[in-house]
Amino acid sequence: MLNSCSRALLPWLVLPWLALPAQAAQAAAADALASQPWWQNAVIYEIYPRSFQDSDGDGTGDLRGITQRLDYLQQLGVDAIWIAPMYPSPQVDFGYDISDYENVDPRYGSLADFDRLVLEAGKRHIRVILDMVLNHTSNQHPWFLASASSRSDPRHDWYIWSDGRRDGGAPPAPPNNWVSLFGGSAWQWSDAVGQFYYHQFYRQQPDLNWRNPAVEQAMFDSMRFWLDRGVAGFRLDAITCLFEDERLRDEPALGGVNAQGDPNLDHVYTNNLPQVHDTIRRLRAMVAGYPGDRVLIGETYLPDTAGLDQWYGGERHDELQLPMDMLVGFTNRLDATLFRRRLSELYTQVHGSQPLLVFDNHDNVRSWDRYGDGVHNAQIARLIAALLLTSKATALLYQGEELGQPTTTPTRIEDVKDPIGISGWPREKGRDGERTPMQWDTSNAQAGFSTNPKTWLPVPDNYRRINVRSELADPGSLLNWHRRLIALRRSEPALREGRVVMLDQGNPSVLSYARVAADGSAVLVVLNMSPDAQTIALDPGAAGIAAGQLRSLLASPDTLARIRSLKRIRLPAFAAWVAALRWKSS
Ligand code: NOJ
Repeated sequence: MLNSCSRALLPWLVLPWLALPAQAAQAAAADALASQPWWQNAVIYEIYPRSFQDSDGDGTGDLRGITQRLDYLQQLGVDAIWIAPMYPSPQVDFGYDISDYENVDPRYGSLADFDRLVLEAGKRHIRVILDMVLNHTSNQHPWFLASASSRSDPRHDWYIWSDGRRDGGAPPAPPNNWVSLFGGSAWQWSDAVGQFYYHQFYRQQPDLNWRNPAVEQAMFDSMRFWLDRGVAGFRLDAITCLFEDERLRDEPALGGVNAQGDPNLDHVYTNNLPQVHDTIRRLRAMVAGYPGDRVLIGETYLPDTAGLDQWYGGERHDELQLPMDMLVGFTNRLDATLFRRRLSELYTQVHGSQPLLVFDNHDNVRSWDRYGDGVHNAQIARLIAALLLTSKATALLYQGEELGQPTTTPTRIEDVKDPIGISGWPREKGRDGERTPMQWDTSNAQAGFSTNPKTWLPVPDNYRRINVRSELADPGSLLNWHRRLIALRRSEPALREGRVVMLDQGNPSVLSYARVAADGSAVLVVLNMSPDAQTIALDPGAAGIAAGQLRSLLASPDTLARIRSLKRIRLPAFAAWVAALRWKSS
């Protein structure tokens, strides 16, 4: 007998004679999955160690703190953590200025703490990925101290030096118009050697000279040090900036000035130079010598998908396994047409390589605020999470994103910690806002992050509402929405390995697509990106998707779970709906 539920499913009734081939296809798909590297379709969680968990009460997070919170990460369902730099560092750029690549900063713990973290994470099936800063070191690194000691030092050529321009008797001027991404000229004068050195970031972060083979060898050795300790791979910081023009030519001006007040330049001579790809291929070969599918992730802000494809090595697939796509996650506009176009490009224009999507990190205003309209932020955050976690991409989450932690930008210059915010105030307020401590509970005014009332960045008052403990207890929370999405990503074959079929392609407000598994079963994803209710009809059959039973898997708002037919779907503002089309009811 048909019940009221299955009656409505008539258009998608199971065709029993197709069940057998489907089982065979399922088995084949399971085999294919078993041979996939672990990072394919993984969820990787970024930890900013200063702000995750403080275990020793100094107001700053540390490695033992991360270890204490591994159970939470396992509960969330992440496959790996990427830890932002925790190496010894003067902390001018909060760890991205490394003074020793083969140790742990005492503020964060010790090598023994690190080894224990890897071990404990492994017990919970969580891999550990480290941040690796190859472009520059700290100016306190022994290599730079030697390099800057004299022109005749054997390490002098490990960094980028120039005599600068000398016009008549005037003091030497920088050799060209290159600007630091963090403000001002990218050249710093050194009295000791009577030359300028180049720094893409702060002057305390001199750029290494990657044309010198000794630099490559030393850096690869440091990476081996960590690979031997069991890390699952690296996130390569500022990797597109490794090489600069040898002739130090001026970069073309684009007109206008940036937030730091420097001229906007077209970075043709300091970013994405072709030479970098040879280095990356050698790096990939080195890492490939290790068992266990170690992975190379790139911080790759690139203008288009064709450019991104080069970072995979195009059809050779011999460079990074996972250069980050920043074109989808940073559209910063809830625009279904734009997302459809960018996702389609990403899925079709990288020679079958695995995409990596990211909406949040420690450098950008949180997606909560970039996509939120100030009224529907909670619904919009659900929609973004659904887009990320039902995509055919490996997914990156940044701590606090799963809770809906908003950006808390400092309101007074005297509170700013990030040097860019100090030099750029008030146009550029820096990155403190997205780096405030993780909000765990309401046990103290530090949201359980630390016992010390003076945390390195303040904990915003919203911790009373937005915190792990409260959200775990609330079935309707954003945290539980993430947990359910991640669980579905694991349990639904279509979400694990299914191809993507865009549906309703001309709709400017609603992004809808199907993930279709090898056995033909599908998961439908419907996202209303507009502030208005929308009514749509979907016809998966017309897109070549076989009929099956419709079952709602996840719906925001809950009322969407009652949808019984694809012929008329009414979607409230910013609704997100994930549903299965199955061969057999389960
Ligand atoms: C990118 C990192 O994510 C950012 O935090 C850092 O300041 C720069 N690279 C320089 O290392």
